[in-house]
Amino acid sequence: MAGEPAASMKVEPGAGLKIPRHIGVIMDGNGRWARQRGKRRTEGHVEGVKSLRGLVEHCVTYGVPCLTVFSFSSENWSRPSDEVSFIFNLLRRFVASDLQRLIRNNVRVRIIGSRVGLEPSLVKLIDDVEAKTQANTGLTLVVAFNYGSKAEIVAAARHLAEEVAAGRLSPDDIDEQRLGDALYTAGLPDPDVIIRTSGEQRLSNFLLWQAAYAEFVFVDEHWPDFDEASFVRVLETYTQRDRRFGGIGADAR
Ligand code: IPE
Ligand code: IPE
Ligand code: MG
Repeated sequence: MAGEPAASMKVEPGAGLKIPRHIGVIMDGNGRWARQRGKRRTEGHVEGVKSLRGLVEHCVTYGVPCLTVFSFSSENWSRPSDEVSFIFNLLRRFVASDLQRLIRNNVRVRIIGSRVGLEPSLVKLIDDVEAKTQANTGLTLVVAFNYGSKAEIVAAARHLAEEVAAGRLSPDDIDEQRLGDALYTAGLPDPDVIIRTSGEQRLSNFLLWQAAYAEFVFVDEHWPDFDEASFVRVLETYTQRDRRFGGIGADAR
């Protein structure tokens, strides 16, 4: 009928939604998800990887240029050693199972965090995955692994101090840009949104510097339950936020 959209007419995914340039995700609640089902914590981590795979696809579909996921914090070493080894093996398994899919989807992978104390074979795997996806031009997937934001800032400060000590830099040259460029996230836009699942409302040492003006969205579901509908709800929430950056906001003008 005239005026009615043809049944085959497709609505762009994300139509009417503001798409963030960079989303950061604290993927929390794997352990509780498992416990609630009488399973081992490690089974929650396995399900969590499936959620991550889904999220990467949603970011590609909705045109999000950059996604950073927190997968292992520098504080997570305090967990039982078998859980730590399991998570490390999951990273290896994720790379083995998903590298080709990531390449097909034009995803560029970057892994941020400390490499000190990681097994040489793991460091090689990380270097490899970065090299093999380096030329991709679609989504940038940043995996924060063995990552702690305070340590990242300390390393940046130390690097700048060394530059000054060597006479290559004057203290007056140190500004926000320079410090930002000395962080692991150099060259990436700051996150517009930080999502944390499982109802916790804290940063747990994730992107402290970079999140200066991020919108925080805390959702109650555990990470393994975070699906496309959850993702769209986050985008809807973000779309409604009035980002003022210290100004007076659109309504006040
Ligand atoms: C997040 O889930 C994954 C990692 C921190 C590696 P958790 O393992 O923290 O799950 P909860 O918070 O104990 O439920
Ligand atoms: C933050 O979650 C780290 C990751 C999601 C990888 P945690 O579960 O480790 O954080 P806390 O200990 O509850 O703050
Ligand atoms: Mg947790």
